[in-house]
Amino acid sequence: MVSDSVFIRKTAKSDSLLGLASQKGGVGKTTLAGHLAVMAESKGAGPVALIDTDPQGSLSSWWNERRAETPAFASVDIASLADHLSLLEKAGVNLAIIDTPPAVTETIRKVLAVADMVLIPTRPSPHDLRAVGSTVELVEAVGKRMVFVINGAAQRARITGEAAIALSQHGTVAPVTLYQRTDFAASMIDGRTAQEIDPSSRTAGEVEALWNYVSTQLRK
Ligand SMILES: Nc1ncnc2c1ncn2[C@@H]1O[C@H](COP(=O)(O)OP(=O)(O)O)[C@@H](O)[C@H]1O
Ligand SMILES: [Mg+2]
Repeated sequence: MVSDSVFIRKTAKSDSLLGLASQKGGVGKTTLAGHLAVMAESKGAGPVALIDTDPQGSLSSWWNERRAETPAFASVDIASLADHLSLLEKAGVNLAIIDTPPAVTETIRKVLAVADMVLIPTRPSPHDLRAVGSTVELVEAVGKRMVFVINGAAQRARITGEAAIALSQHGTVAPVTLYQRTDFAASMIDGRTAQEIDPSSRTAGEVEALWNYVSTQLRK
């Protein structure tokens, strides 16, 4: 279902599609999909539609808890993803953000095929960095632009810098690091985002900086 508000708003701006992908679970795909969607709306980049292709449905559960009317949520059948996306585009959706499941390679491939850009959240741990190769292979196979973002970093930890260096061997690393903060997790419980709970929080500032970077990349 797409909320009615999406159908009445038309925009002349070109639409874009941001995919969040990582074969690893627990890296922040769902958290960042929600946070970036809300931030994009508040920055005037909407209408934004969120799409959840993870059978676990974490993003849709979060969205169902929301009281705010935006971003919209679009239920999409992965088998007819391209058709559904062109419907959203006709309805005036300016930005679609697609969350993907970990490990379900076929679903990730289908999303990558239609994405303009892929954001790959990665935790700065040796285990996560080793696991990133399989995601990179998937993205490279379809020739899509990918950007890594380090998520869940500890303050003043040397491994964050080391992780950025390791990731830069594979591709572009976002110039914004997201730190491990309870407000990221806590906000998701009741269908909100850290910036909706406290717009002046450091988490909100990081999400804003990440969105500014992503939106510049999407316009390229
Ligand atoms: N920067 C962060 N700080 C604190 N908790 C985080 C952060 N990013 C994600 N989390 C938490 O980590 C867990 C996994 O995040 P999630 O977005 O569900 O990952 P994925 O979708 O990649 O499996 C969730 O409980 C989420 O609230
Ligand atoms: Mg998830």
